[in-house]
Amino acid sequence: MTRKDSHAKTVCITGTGSYLPEKVLTNFDLEKMVETTDEWIRTRTGIRERHIAQNGEGTCLMAAQSALRALRSADMSPEEVEIIIVGTFTPDMLLPNTACLVQDRIGAENALCFDLSAACSGFVYGLEVARGLILGSGYRNALVIGVEKLSAVTDWRDRNTCVLFGDGGGAAVLEATDKSGRRGLLASAMGADGSLADLLNIPGGGSRMGLTRHAIDDRQIYIKMAGNEVFKHAVRCMCNAGQKALERSGLTMDDVNWVIPHQANARIVEAVASRLGNSPHKFCVNLERVGNISAASVPVALDEFVRRGKIKRGDTVLLVAFGGGFTWGAMVLEWGY
Ligand code: UT7
Repeated sequence: MTRKDSHAKTVCITGTGSYLPEKVLTNFDLEKMVETTDEWIRTRTGIRERHIAQNGEGTCLMAAQSALRALRSADMSPEEVEIIIVGTFTPDMLLPNTACLVQDRIGAENALCFDLSAACSGFVYGLEVARGLILGSGYRNALVIGVEKLSAVTDWRDRNTCVLFGDGGGAAVLEATDKSGRRGLLASAMGADGSLADLLNIPGGGSRMGLTRHAIDDRQIYIKMAGNEVFKHAVRCMCNAGQKALERSGLTMDDVNWVIPHQANARIVEAVASRLGNSPHKFCVNLERVGNISAASVPVALDEFVRRGKIKRGDTVLLVAFGGGFTWGAMVLEWGY
């Protein structure tokens, strides 16, 4: 079948995979590094521990491992992959993109490859772009990866941020289908507000403020965040995006079996759950064990809850993310293929 002959009506997730580095950093370990306590971190964020990449464990490696697991569960070989999208703001290198490195590492020689920079919303944005390419341009499948090595851009002297972040990767295989009865990705709502870029960013190390001695000494090459402000926007934007995606799919929260939220803070998740129809029992949360892993947050939680048999064929799932930019995105899908 040539691309032009493709008449796919539906795009389904046919496989998921994830990868977390072996090394675990607990709140008690952090007590020895900065002035903090396990109690403060647990009660203010819900996090107990996070995974941290070790020497040689880069973004590409984590992405490739999660991709191979997703391909295995989709029963697809790397050579069959047509598109690789990597959502990340911690690429192995600025050039080339991480997707090309993943392509080489897993042997997906027939795929076009690009990175997508949308911070914590990178995976959900990636699903939206992949769906558009499959439905609009006739590609048959895509590998969408959310991966982050936040430990590389975390200021380990700043207690305001270093207790929050972790490393990891998650991936999903998307495939076109024209089988009747398959509904797949149903509707989405994406957005951004660049006027609030200053609330969450890494000022140095880019082309505006290069990797100068000043940028390094002034610690401008690490994540800066106005936590309290970001918190409020995160709750508002995730609720609005979730509602809008549900409206577009013709569904309500009553129809939703599972919500996979971006996992930045348990209090954010609780606030979103209470505003989206008081539904905390529907929220898939793994934040306690992994911390905030940005673009990897949604796909890692999705993979864990699918593999644990919680998310089943026919379930309606709402993915909702928010991150630096600001960017946000929500997607409603029916699980199964
Ligand atoms: O993934 C992208 C989106 N990111 C987010 O959504 C993150 C959103 N923000 C948050 O999760 C929360 O704002 C934080 C967890 C970052 C902070 O929680 P907060 O309840 O907003 O605390 P705060 O910033 O208002 O700070 C409260 C106090 C401050 O002390 P003072 O000024 O009141 O004396 C901080 O210095 O807590 C202090 N503090 C800490 N104390 C012990 C900040 N970090 C720590 C720490 N240990 N690690």
